[in-house]
Amino acid sequence: MRNVPPLRLYFLPEDIESIKIDVEKILSSGMLTMGEYTKKFEEDYASYHGMKYGVAVNSGTSALEIVLRSLRLRGWEVIVPTNTFTATAASIVFAGGKPVFTDVQASSLCIGEEDVKGAITNKTKAVMVVHIGGLICPDIRAIKEICEDKKIALVEDAAHAQGCKAFGRFAGSFGTAGCFSFYPTKVMTTAEGGIITTDDQEVVEKARVLRDQGKESFNSNIIVELGYNWRLNEISAAIGLSQLKRLPEIIEKRNIVARLYDRELSNFERVELIEVPEGFVHNYYKYTILLRKGIDRDGFKKRMREKGVRCGGEVYWPPLHMQPAYRKLLGVKEGDFPVAEDVCARMVELPIYADMPKEDAEYVINTLKEELS
Ligand SMILES: Cc1ncc(COP(=O)(O)O)c(C=O)c1O
Repeated sequence: MRNVPPLRLYFLPEDIESIKIDVEKILSSGMLTMGEYTKKFEEDYASYHGMKYGVAVNSGTSALEIVLRSLRLRGWEVIVPTNTFTATAASIVFAGGKPVFTDVQASSLCIGEEDVKGAITNKTKAVMVVHIGGLICPDIRAIKEICEDKKIALVEDAAHAQGCKAFGRFAGSFGTAGCFSFYPTKVMTTAEGGIITTDDQEVVEKARVLRDQGKESFNSNIIVELGYNWRLNEISAAIGLSQLKRLPEIIEKRNIVARLYDRELSNFERVELIEVPEGFVHNYYKYTILLRKGIDRDGFKKRMREKGVRCGGEVYWPPLHMQPAYRKLLGVKEGDFPVAEDVCARMVELPIYADMPKEDAEYVINTLKEELS
C-alpha cells in the first residue's frame, strides 16, 4: 500500500541551504523585521504579478483586514461568496462592514456575475472575489465592469492564487487590491505570512501605516491611525523569496499532476470536474472533484484513507452561511444558497503537490476508481 499525503511543501535541498545562509545573515544583522528581505520580497512578488506595490504582512487574514479597513466600511456592505474561508468574511466584520453572502457557480465554485448583481444594494461598498482552489474567478472581468459601473471596490481574496493568470493578467491585479496568503498549505509559503498587491498609491500608504501600529513610518513614533502588529518578519521574507523563485516550476509540476487527473477522470461518470476556461493558468492549490449525487463522501474518504490516500481539506464545507457563528451574526441559514450547499457537500480534494511521483497520482486514481465503481 502506498502512503499519499494530501499535500507536501516544496523545498529543494539547495533552497534549504540558501535559506540557512539567509537566516544567518538576518540573525547577525540584528534586523529581524521590516528589513531588506521584506522590501525585496515585496518588490519581487508585486513585479512577478505585474503590480507596482506589495505590502508584506504576517498573514492572509491581515492582508484582507488591512485592505478592507482602507475602504472605510463602517455602515457598508461587502458582497462575498458563501463558499470561502472564514477569514474572508470575518475580516469584513472586523473592518466595520457587513458581509452579504451570495451563492456560487457550480462549474467553478466561484462567485458569478449574476450572484453579484443580485446582491448589490445602495449600501454596497465592495465586492470580494475569491479565486477558489487557485482558479481565477471566471467572471472576474464582468464583475470588474459591474464594480466600475457602480463605483464600488473590487477586492481579490487571492489566498489560493499565487501565480495564477486569466485574460493575460495575474491574480491580485484585477481590482483595488489582491490579498494573498502564505500559510504552509499554500502553493508557496513563508511559514506564516501574506501580501497585498496593488497599483493604488493611497491603498499602499494606508496599508503600510496600518500593518505597523498606525505609525506614520517605521522609524517614527507618531501614531496617525489605530493600526496593529501585522508585520512580516525577515526570516519569513527570506523563505518567501526562495519560494517565489520556484513558483513557475511549482505551478508547472502541479499542472502535470492535474493533467493526469483530468485525463483519467474526465470520462469517469462517478465524478464531475471543475471547468478551467481556455487560457487560464491554474496553480492547482486544490484539485477538486465533485462526487455524483448520492455518493457518501465521508465513507468514500474513509475508504481512501484506509488505502493510504489522504484527501485535503475541502474548499469549503460547510459553506459560511451554514456555520453557527455567521448564522447568529447575519441571520443566514441552511437553504439560502442551494448551489453552494450542493457542490460543497459533494466536493473532494485529491492529493496534489509539486514533487508528487506519477506512481502516487496513478495510485490515487486507481484507488478512487476501485472505491467508486
Ligand atoms: C480563501 C482564504 N482567505 C483567507 C485566508 C487567510 O489566510 P491566512 O491563513 O494566511 O491568514 C485563507 C487561508 O487559509 C484562505 O484560504
